[in-house]
Amino acid sequence: MNHENILVTKESGYAVIQFNRPEVLNALNTKLMEELVESLESIDQDDDVRCVIITGNEKAFAAGADIKEMADASAIEMLGRDQFARWDRIRRIKKPLIAAVSGFALGGGCELAMTCDIIIASETAKFGQPEINIGVIPGAGGTQRLTRAVGKAKAMEMVLTGKMISAEEARQWGLVNKVVPVEYYLQEARNLAEEIAGKPPLAVRLAKEAVLKSFDTTIEGGLEFERRSFYLLFASDDQKEGMKAFVEKRRPDWSGR
Ligand code: CAA
Repeated sequence: MNHENILVTKESGYAVIQFNRPEVLNALNTKLMEELVESLESIDQDDDVRCVIITGNEKAFAAGADIKEMADASAIEMLGRDQFARWDRIRRIKKPLIAAVSGFALGGGCELAMTCDIIIASETAKFGQPEINIGVIPGAGGTQRLTRAVGKAKAMEMVLTGKMISAEEARQWGLVNKVVPVEYYLQEARNLAEEIAGKPPLAVRLAKEAVLKSFDTTIEGGLEFERRSFYLLFASDDQKEGMKAFVEKRRPDWSGR
């Protein structure tokens, strides 16, 4: 499929989606988001792809929603566009999403990285929710996901001041999984994607779902979901193979069933 604003490549076991609006620091306009969501949904149906990396370039992961596109909109127009509703579809993607972040991850860029399951950052990455500086607040989940990731005090500081934090701070605060020199961040994400792609896909799918469940249910509901998912996996060939291989002291051969 041809895209105007993203580049999609399929590697062995995983896909890479790269934002391609470098002239505006990958500002996330409607078209780009449409292309991103459609690609993710199509990849989610592709059995050959087990994991997806979302990335930008060295200078910017994404500097936020496209300010120029919404600057003159009325509230009624914004409601009609409901541009952030599209983001809910990213939340429903079943395959693991890795954000490989370098440079600016601001506003919607930070929110998109947080919508992914794992964040690998280059030492030059900068995270922030600067919406307050342009008269608004985060609109694509920032107040909720940032608070869950770093706690109330730090989220308040970032959302109220709009200040950026460094990759290392983001790692210490629990927002980012790993920080590596800029020349390695994409490779690091690829290594991780390859590792996840080598795991049994049904278990990966249910593991992701179960972890995400912890954000929007009670502990009891989450435990129930986890337990049922665990039992359900005993209907899979991969459970039989995985446990048999362990007993026979050999590497498992996953069928994905
Ligand atoms: N929307 C549209 N265009 C953007 C943009 C954005 N979010 N961020 C950068 N650009 C454009 C600039 O307008 C500029 O274009 P021109 O060359 O045509 O002038 C180009 O990208 C390069 O940007 P700068 O010249 O500003 O680059 P810089 O290195 O001096 O500064 C920056 C970098 C600090 C990231 C600065 O660009 C900036 O502050 N950008 C806006 C960040 C922001 O406020 N993001 C939040 C957006 S709102 C949002 O995301 C809502 C939400 O919750 C989803």
